[in-house]
Amino acid sequence: MRHRRLGELTVSAVGLGAMPLSIEGRPDEARALATVHAALDAGVTLLDTADSYTLPGAAPGHNELLVARALAAYGGDTSDVLVATKGGRGRTPDGGWTVDAGPHRLKAAAEASLKRLGVEAIGLYQLHKPDPAIPFEDSVGALRDLLDEGKIRLAGLSNTDPDQIRRAHAILGDRLVSVQNRYSPQVRDSEPELRLCAELGLAFLPWSPLGGITRSSLDGPARLETGFPAFHEVARERGVTPQQICLAWHLAQSPTVIPIPGASRPETITASAAAADLSLTEEELSFLNTGK
Ligand SMILES: NC(=O)c1ccc[n+]([C@@H]2O[C@H](COP(=O)([O-])OP(=O)(O)OC[C@H]3O[C@@H](n4cnc5c(N)ncnc54)[C@H](OP(=O)(O)O)[C@@H]3O)[C@@H](O)[C@H]2O)c1
Repeated sequence: MRHRRLGELTVSAVGLGAMPLSIEGRPDEARALATVHAALDAGVTLLDTADSYTLPGAAPGHNELLVARALAAYGGDTSDVLVATKGGRGRTPDGGWTVDAGPHRLKAAAEASLKRLGVEAIGLYQLHKPDPAIPFEDSVGALRDLLDEGKIRLAGLSNTDPDQIRRAHAILGDRLVSVQNRYSPQVRDSEPELRLCAELGLAFLPWSPLGGITRSSLDGPARLETGFPAFHEVARERGVTPQQICLAWHLAQSPTVIPIPGASRPETITASAAAADLSLTEEELSFLNTGK
């Protein structure tokens, strides 16, 4: 397993996105635990969760409790595993996602996450999404207070633009270590954020790196199947899967990129973790990017 920097820490170059273990279509508890354990067996040391990863209308915390149970039940050493959680969002009964990132709400959410994870301090706490009803500096100020109080060790952002990243960096300095935005071969509009993270030395965690959860994902994410023949061609030549080529493509974007593919089965995270050791040539990258 290759590793990458995240602030002063070193984590696996591919993390586990734990969201599919708790939202609609989630597996039963045994398969969910087996999926986290397969990630750990494969050397994954970054687990991405959030308080809002739960069923529509359900109480927050399903995913955090699951991750905590999986770590407690794992036979091996988990001391180097970084659990990255998020606060500032919730679920509605109709399947929607709310945003509520006022400073009081964020601090209360972090306290609740801390208890659910059963830790003294949260390893990495990410603002899930800026709240348009709250001055951005107020939400970031809550992260600063949580850092100062020792409730969280490191801070991250999610779904932010370059201006917000610079403003948060000015407030948090090197205690801001990561930005998590949507990014994949299909959806590249967070390219400026990815480049800014490389410039500032922040980890960039692409979410939905394989194009997101699809019902046909048992055979691989459908969106990769259709629009990206180059990924299939390179995969055939290398004897790996298009999803593994996709993760290798992510890792080639910048040394600060750490993809967090989601999984609801042990097999998929095992395959994703193996992609951390794939290096693409310049020719392959050019072919993937241009089809030529
Ligand atoms: N910050 C945010 O706002 C935000 C938003 C969305 C997601 N996220 C985070 O990002 C993570 C990843 O995003 P995502 O789960 O939406 O989408 P994704 O990683 O693009 O795709 C996940 C789907 O791909 C399949 N898959 C994973 N690895 C595979 C492999 N090696 N080969 C074939 N199929 C594979 C999985 O199948 P199986 O289910 O069959 O295992 C799963 O259904 C989430 O889990 C969550 O932690 C964050």
